[in-house]
Amino acid sequence: MTVHFIGAGPGAPDLLTLRGRDLIAACPVCLYAGSLVPEAVLAHCPQGARIVNTAPLSLDQIVAEIEAAHARGLDVARLHSGDLSVWSAMGEQLRRLRGLGIPVSVTPGVPSFAAAAAALGAELTLPGLAQSVVLTRTPGRASSMPEGETLANFAATGATLALHLSIQNLAAVVAELTPFYGAGCPVAVVWRASWPDERILRGTLADIEARMDAGISRTALILVGPALAGEGFDESCLYAPGYDRRYRPQDATSPWAGWSED
Ligand SMILES: C[S@@+](CC[C@H](N)C(=O)[O-])C[C@H]1O[C@@H](n2cnc3c(N)ncnc32)[C@H](O)[C@@H]1O
Repeated sequence: MTVHFIGAGPGAPDLLTLRGRDLIAACPVCLYAGSLVPEAVLAHCPQGARIVNTAPLSLDQIVAEIEAAHARGLDVARLHSGDLSVWSAMGEQLRRLRGLGIPVSVTPGVPSFAAAAAALGAELTLPGLAQSVVLTRTPGRASSMPEGETLANFAATGATLALHLSIQNLAAVVAELTPFYGAGCPVAVVWRASWPDERILRGTLADIEARMDAGISRTALILVGPALAGEGFDESCLYAPGYDRRYRPQDATSPWAGWSED
């Protein structure tokens, strides 16, 4: 018996990995985080599967569900939205299950920041503008931020910021970032990336608040940084005609000449 943690993706049911789909189809028990996991993903569950929405459950109750499946030798598909490596609450479940000696596997999913970038048609790391993406959040009711993980500290790097769980703090985000990025810095808010009702708001730190409306809440990402302009960047060396590289040696004197992967 194994508990398979599966990243269910950002919302569109076809943004689930094939491995995730096959595991869901093979598990007689499915626990899913109902607040964000799309119901359509549950269509992959086998007929007669026990399907439990864990949104209203406590950690103890979730572990009890898993222990009950374990006692009967039934594999469990445990679904969380996006990818499991960020804000999935997988860590606390893994710790409990490891303590109980219950085997686990982890299958990654498409994270929401990647779905938001795709919706924008944007590369977040453009040469000369940004070479790092910071996945972060602002403090919430249930979660404080570790000292040092301040927006100001991240903003000082000039990296592209992908702010999760923070749309309700947009005014504070704008106020904290403007001294670092400047009022003209591009901002995008992507609401429900990859869902049928996905919405995109583009603006700058100066005007993004004015562009917001009451329909945008909760499931939204705020992306900030000069790379979002999609212009004013350098071309990468990788495809430059004269760039000597393993897959495209320039001449016989290249250290890569005659190189083969075999
Ligand atoms: C609990 S976190 C889950 C993050 C998830 N594990 C991931 O890989 O993206 C929820 C936050 O992720 C962001 N989010 C999740 N799905 C989203 C989507 N489809 N579109 C925009 N933001 C999304 C929002 O900022 C939301 O508040």
